[in-house]
Amino acid sequence: MEEAQGMFEPIPSVVPAVKDNAVTHEKVELGKMLFFEPRLSSSHLISCNTCHNLGMGGDDNLETSIGHGWAKGPRNAPTVLNAVFNIAQFWDGRAEDLKAQAKGPIQAGVEMNNKPHAVEVTLNSMPEYRERFARAFPGEDKPVTFDNLAKAIEAFEATLITPASRFDQYLEGNDPVLTAEEKEGLRLFMDKGCAGCHAGRNLGGEGYFPFGVMEKPGADILPPNDQGRFQVTQTADDSYVFRAGPLRNIALTAPYFHSGMVWELRQAVAVMGESQLGEKLSDKEIDLITTFLHTLTGEQPRVEYPILPVSTPETPLPQEMVAQ
Ligand code: HEC
Ligand code: HEC
Repeated sequence: MEEAQGMFEPIPSVVPAVKDNAVTHEKVELGKMLFFEPRLSSSHLISCNTCHNLGMGGDDNLETSIGHGWAKGPRNAPTVLNAVFNIAQFWDGRAEDLKAQAKGPIQAGVEMNNKPHAVEVTLNSMPEYRERFARAFPGEDKPVTFDNLAKAIEAFEATLITPASRFDQYLEGNDPVLTAEEKEGLRLFMDKGCAGCHAGRNLGGEGYFPFGVMEKPGADILPPNDQGRFQVTQTADDSYVFRAGPLRNIALTAPYFHSGMVWELRQAVAVMGESQLGEKLSDKEIDLITTFLHTLTGEQPRVEYPILPVSTPETPLPQEMVAQ
């Protein structure tokens, strides 16, 4: 337990502060509406919750996400739960924080396919949004902006944390809360070296490593066309480098890896053993580590579905979405 306490941190039960963005009640409520708001997409069909379903672990449980015009994106959707604790956002860390991140999907052609100005026009067309932005961003002349939208979504996402997993109860000193097998799994997770990359509060999400430090997985798991952080830094060293996946709630968020090619957690553990540690783990070891990973499921945030304002004659109409 002491060793684990030195490596991992429990998820706090209070909403964390975020940089340059006070998390106020007004902002959180507005951010929640925006998270569920399909009119942020040009088709009026796709919301953040479409791909980050808060009833399903904060992701879509698809291999890779499906967005505008049924376009299949290149990567698996990570969960938004506890994302506030990651060092940076996306599999390659290309967004510095959640407010920078939120602007991406709205504009991505394969996701929500919209433009910042069109989003502002849409939000301005509904009096309730105008009032709510004014209350969330008091004193601003023109509060309904794309930047403020991103800040409100970030504030809401800061509330999407999952405290009180059994593992966290253990870290807080409750020894009998884990079974002997789960503790053995934890011991293996630390001794084998998984925790070298998956530590801290999110058991990952803190550093970047080659996928295949010891042995590169096959193209079925690591497709050659996605070079990860190399696309962000253009440094050869960063070829096939990805952020170590945060493992909180991992039992809820299959399929696994940025390619979403692995559906079973056991198999993901086996792949990690070979690719990251250069070790073929025994079936027994894989079972024990997987059993431990199940203790990382925390209390899911209870989100009351927001009632969204009705469109007005000024609200732009949905754009036709042609299958691509
Ligand atoms: C069409 C599906 C889709 C939609 C819609 C979508 N996302 Fe995502 N989201 C993804 C995918 C796929 C990724 C990973 C992309 C990557 O790493 O390159 C992602 C990544 C993220 C991350 C990073 C999490 C992490 O651990 O790195 C956050 C946070 C997030 N999305 C929030 C949002 C918000 C907020 C919205 C609405 C404004 C949104 N997403 C809309 C599919 C979607
Ligand atoms: C050298 C660093 C490193 C080590 C050691 C390591 N991992 Fe990983 N892990 C990563 C990286 C990087 C990823 C993201 C891979 C990708 O691009 O999909 C990852 C992804 C994962 C995922 C999938 C996460 C998701 O959301 O899909 C699981 C599960 C996982 N690791 C478990 C383990 C286990 C269990 C061990 C020990 C047997 C381990 N890892 C050892 C770096 C590491």
